[in-house]
Amino acid sequence: MNTPDLFAAPEGGVEAIADGAVLLRGFVLDAATALLAEIERVAEAASFRHMVTPGGYEMSAAMTNCGTAGWTTDRSGYRYERLDLKTGNAWPPLPEAFMDLAGRAAADAGYAGCTPDACLINRYAPGAKLSLHQDRDEADFTAPIVSVSLGLPATFLFGGPRRADRPQRIVLQHGDVVVWGGPARLFYHGVAPLKDGVHPATGRIRYNLTLRKAL
Ligand code: SIN
Ligand code: FE2
Repeated sequence: MNTPDLFAAPEGGVEAIADGAVLLRGFVLDAATALLAEIERVAEAASFRHMVTPGGYEMSAAMTNCGTAGWTTDRSGYRYERLDLKTGNAWPPLPEAFMDLAGRAAADAGYAGCTPDACLINRYAPGAKLSLHQDRDEADFTAPIVSVSLGLPATFLFGGPRRADRPQRIVLQHGDVVVWGGPARLFYHGVAPLKDGVHPATGRIRYNLTLRKAL
């Protein structure tokens, strides 16, 4: 299916959540175990850390990256860096499985020929959240963002072009993928504080992968 279908069944289909944004329920369920193993492998080389915002606040979600460049924040600002500033090494390469799922998810969402070069990996423990923000540090806004949820469910906040736009609240489950691009590429989004729980695949953790074209 190439066009978002407003009337798709809520499970196993393509659900439009805005013009340019779709939810693919259970899209990576089959690959979840392999994706979690890749996350572990990335984290062995580039460990999860709580980065600091330009304003000096420590982020509650722990983060790492893989790909040609990694999203980074510290007192000097939000940006992409080719090196992991914690180790001085290049970020680990994007696993084949990440590239593959991003291409397939983007195509199903109507964005064919999408090749990401970066993946931010967020790790949420109970209580961790992500305030409303735009993904706008990338050089290329023609490519969509492909976001993968693994482990504990979370309430995803998906707003509009202005920070003040009231966000939709969408519960994302293990295996769900959200793709936003085109007219929704710069829409505000965030994650509500993670509710405590235990997931069979990850324990008391939610992971999120966001694949982007950064450079
Ligand atoms: C992000 O915006 O970087 C992550 C979104 C999510 O965790 O679902
Ligand atoms: Fe984001």
